[in-house]
Amino acid sequence: MKILAIESSCDETAAAVVEDGRKVLSSVINSQIEEHRLYGGVVPEIASRRHAENIVAVTEKALSDAGVALNDIDAVAVTYAPGLIGALLVGVNFAKGLALAANKPLIGVHHIRGHIAANYIAHEQLKPPFLCLVVSGGHSHIIKVEDYTKFDVIGRTRDDAAGEAFDKAARAMGYPYPGGVHLDKASKLGKLGNFPLPQPKVEGSPYDFSFSGLKTAVINLLHRAEQRGEEVCREDLAADFQKTVSDILVTRTMAAAKEFGFKTIVLAGGVSANSGIREGFEKACKKQGCQLFMPPLNLCGDNAAMIGSQAYYEYLAGNTASLDLNGIASMPIDKSW
Ligand code: KG4
Ligand code: ZN
Repeated sequence: MKILAIESSCDETAAAVVEDGRKVLSSVINSQIEEHRLYGGVVPEIASRRHAENIVAVTEKALSDAGVALNDIDAVAVTYAPGLIGALLVGVNFAKGLALAANKPLIGVHHIRGHIAANYIAHEQLKPPFLCLVVSGGHSHIIKVEDYTKFDVIGRTRDDAAGEAFDKAARAMGYPYPGGVHLDKASKLGKLGNFPLPQPKVEGSPYDFSFSGLKTAVINLLHRAEQRGEEVCREDLAADFQKTVSDILVTRTMAAAKEFGFKTIVLAGGVSANSGIREGFEKACKKQGCQLFMPPLNLCGDNAAMIGSQAYYEYLAGNTASLDLNGIASMPIDKSW
């Protein structure tokens, strides 16, 4: 079954053709990051406009790269939640138009379910159940993935998402938006141990996260140094920040794996590209006798191939949408249809 998938929930206009959930026939991503960087973050109105301008060309390229015409496609899939509402609506309305015109089924896909599915593309042998840590610009969740379309969130962030914490700390250190990847690179040049940082816990919720205190600790540390006229070695601070985030994510995920009896751990989302986090999980999984699956770097961030993969499993579960499908800015991953 060939699915044409569309993704426009944030600042990437993307389209892909995916066969039977696992084989990517094409994947096209048009990133708007350069433009949003001028403003230090994603400007929703600009994002919507660029999606509207680019979505036709991106979709045509996805079809032609896959060597298929719209009529060869078996279904049209689209990210409908969560995300920036104007951005989502561009993709949702475009996908509805295509599905109606080509008389194909329409499949709505939850963006975070898509991030998890990126792993199905990369790892042929991976099947639920498994325990998944999803860390992106907007989410930090520990999720029991019980089946392809059955999820149970057992840990979540109470404030900032992991990616948000990376981006805000990086911004305070003077790196351009989105700073996560710059902080990652800088950390490789830094020495550990010069800047002890807190690992905030959430009272009574061992698998929840709170990253805003950590971000504030970095900002305060930089302010105090500036007031005293002291230099802060950015690379050392980046190394300690990254190690602290990684330790928090690894400890809580591995403790959840132990308590709930999971031996398969999966990472997903833009922040799973982080070298320190990947290394931290590799070591911890080896120690705890768990098998670890991570998306390759090109499937960590937003793309439409992951949406096409999840769409296949939604279709098999009977989750097709009608033409009243709407974009939804915020929606839990475990809401069933
Ligand atoms: O999943 P994603 O592409 O978009 C959302 O759905 O939010 O995640 C984007 C986030 C940004 O916060 C970005 O800074 C972060 O992923 N990110 C990283 C790295 N690469 C991307 N954070 C830390 N280290 C990286 N190497
Ligand atoms: Zn994403």
